[in-house]
Amino acid sequence: MRIVLAIALCCLIPPAQAAAANSAAAVRGRELFEHWCSACHAPEPTEDGRYLPGTNTLQNRYKGRVPAALEQRTDLTEAYIEAVIRSGLHAMPRFRKTEISDRQMHDIAAYLAKGAQGAARSDGAT
Ligand code: HEC
Repeated sequence: MRIVLAIALCCLIPPAQAAAANSAAAVRGRELFEHWCSACHAPEPTEDGRYLPGTNTLQNRYKGRVPAALEQRTDLTEAYIEAVIRSGLHAMPRFRKTEISDRQMHDIAAYLAKGAQGAARSDGAT
C-alpha cells in the first residue's frame, strides 16, 4: 500500500509543484534581469536616448527576424542563456558565480526562456 501511495504521490504532485516553482523562479528572474541585464538589454533606450549595447547589437544582427529585446524572445533555451551568462558573447561580458550564483542564473534563464512577457504575468498559465 505504501509503495502504491508513494508512486501515486510522485506522479501526481510534482507537475503542479514544478509549475509553481518555475513561475516563482521566473518572477525572481525578472528582478535579477532588471538588475544585471537591462542596462544593455532593455527594449527601449533610456529616457535620455542612451545607446543600449545588447539591444542594438541584436537589432543589427537579426534585423527584425526575432525581437531585439531578450524579454520578447521566445526562441531562447535555458541552456543557451546560461552558457552566454557564464561565458559571455563577443562584446557581452561573462558573469562570475560571485556576481550571479548558479541559482540566480537558473532564475534568469527560466524568466527569459519561456518568453519573459508571458512569465512576467506570473499567473502560472504559461
Ligand atoms: C555590458 C552590456 C551587457 C550586459 C550587462 C549583458 N549583456 Fe547580454 N549581450 C550584450 C551584447 C553586446 C550582446 C551581443 C553579443 C554579440 O555580438 O553576439 C549580448 C547578447 C546576449 C545574448 C545572445 C542573444 C542571441 O540572440 O544570441 C544573450 C542570451 C544575453 N546577451 C543574455 C544576457 C543576460 C541574461 C544578461 C544579464 C545576466 C546580459 N546578457 C547582460 C551585452 C550585454
